Amino acid sequence: MKIIITDNYNTLSAAAGDIIAQQIKAKPDSVLGLATGSTPIGTYKHLVEAGLDFSNVQAFNLDEYYPIPRTNDQSYYYFMNENLFSQVNIDKKNTHIQNGEASDPQAECQRYEDAIKGAGGIDLQLLGLGLNGHIGFNEPDSHFPKATHHVALDESTIEANSRFFASSDDVPRHALTMGIGTIFNARKIVMLISGEAKADIAKAVIHGNIDPQIPASILQLHPDVTIILDKDAAKYVK
Ligand code: F6R
Repeated sequence: MKIIITDNYNTLSAAAGDIIAQQIKAKPDSVLGLATGSTPIGTYKHLVEAGLDFSNVQAFNLDEYYPIPRTNDQSYYYFMNENLFSQVNIDKKNTHIQNGEASDPQAECQRYEDAIKGAGGIDLQLLGLGLNGHIGFNEPDSHFPKATHHVALDESTIEANSRFFASSDDVPRHALTMGIGTIFNARKIVMLISGEAKADIAKAVIHGNIDPQIPASILQLHPDVTIILDKDAAKYVK
């Protein structure tokens, strides 16, 4: 894995934005895998400011809460429009996210997995890292889930994400997420880790054993992973 340690969140965001910008310039019809949460917000700002041409880019998001209406300002659909899609020239029909209102979540997961394959697979997947080591909503488990699936969120994830909701009771209990296999199939992966609270889990992901209890640890086996950390998150990274 290639490890980049930057001074702070702004330089982390610029470094990630530069890698994505290079990808889009080299392949204007890139298929990007995108993440939500606090960490990539600066990266999206950087991409907006770079004035890139997104007109032929396709985007597939990692995950969406379930159930949740698209109009809910905590849905990842809403987040992506706010933070990126409404601010660049991406064609809305090329933006994809699991449907948090689907009546049959299993069928929706299969449709999503097929859509990624139909687009030719993901060229570059952007990831954040959960405090419990999750990527997407692949929570600690006894195995690595392969494909896009319907998942019950961990209590720790509900707690961590309650900061965005009025109370933890309002956090949806389930999600539809790309699987570890879906993520692993991306040709290039860029993971962002920011803040001292993630220093322990960053060390476990980078230096620890590959263990489904720390889902991101599987990335040690991927042939093209770049992890960008700020100094605080990199406290225990050698
Ligand atoms: C978001 C996602 C999650 C987050 C992770 C970190 O689409 O899939 O895995 O990347 O929970 O979230 P933040 O960046 O808010 O700390």
